Amino acid sequence: MDDFYSVSCATSDDFDGWMLLVDIVSDDFPGLVRNEYEKVLQDCISKRTAICAKNQDRVIGLLLFSLENGTLSFLAVHPDYRGSGIATDMIKTMIRRFPQNESISVTTYREGDAKGEAARKLYKKIGFIEDELVEEFDYPCQRFVFGVKGEAKNNLAQSLFFKGNIY
Ligand SMILES: CC(C)(COP(=O)(O)OP(=O)(O)OC[C@H]1O[C@@H](n2cnc3c(N)ncnc32)[C@H](O)[C@@H]1OP(=O)(O)O)[C@@H](O)C(=O)NCCC(=O)NCCS
Repeated sequence: MDDFYSVSCATSDDFDGWMLLVDIVSDDFPGLVRNEYEKVLQDCISKRTAICAKNQDRVIGLLLFSLENGTLSFLAVHPDYRGSGIATDMIKTMIRRFPQNESISVTTYREGDAKGEAARKLYKKIGFIEDELVEEFDYPCQRFVFGVKGEAKNNLAQSLFFKGNIY
């Protein structure tokens, strides 16, 4: 991991910094309702399913997931810090929190949608596989699944799980 940032489980001390970044990236998330998002964030912090990247005390990367639903539900990196591997590190940290034989799904933009170019390449590079076409907030999206066919996850799992949990 590059040493200008660290990845960890978010605490209540990170709440304000997290929401500052949500405001910066909110155009990428058309269906986001701020007060509902705040409740979800509080819940995720209490369940230790909110992962953030920080440059010193500044929150520069956000990831929310659900162990119960097997989903990655929110991912964003500050525009000034993209392309440095931060999203990759946060996703790998999340994957280590799941039991080895469980699949993880995420919904993102469809192929050909410029908004989804970075996210789609990122998920594919990590080993997520394209799944069904869906709609979210009336917007055409696609589900990606990690671990569903076994091999992609097993290969990555070997390199992830044996590193242990970084929290
Ligand atoms: C998608 C996003 C989270 C990626 O964060 P990031 O920290 O820049 O990603 P990483 O540096 O870990 O990139 C890993 C890989 O993703 C792909 N990728 C990342 N940004 C890309 C871009 N702008 N264009 C094409 N591919 C890209 C590349 O394959 C990259 O690997 P490489 O650097 O070896 O080429 C970030 O661009 C973002 O916050 N976008 C807006 C919000 C969003 O789209 N969230 C996901 C919604 S489902």
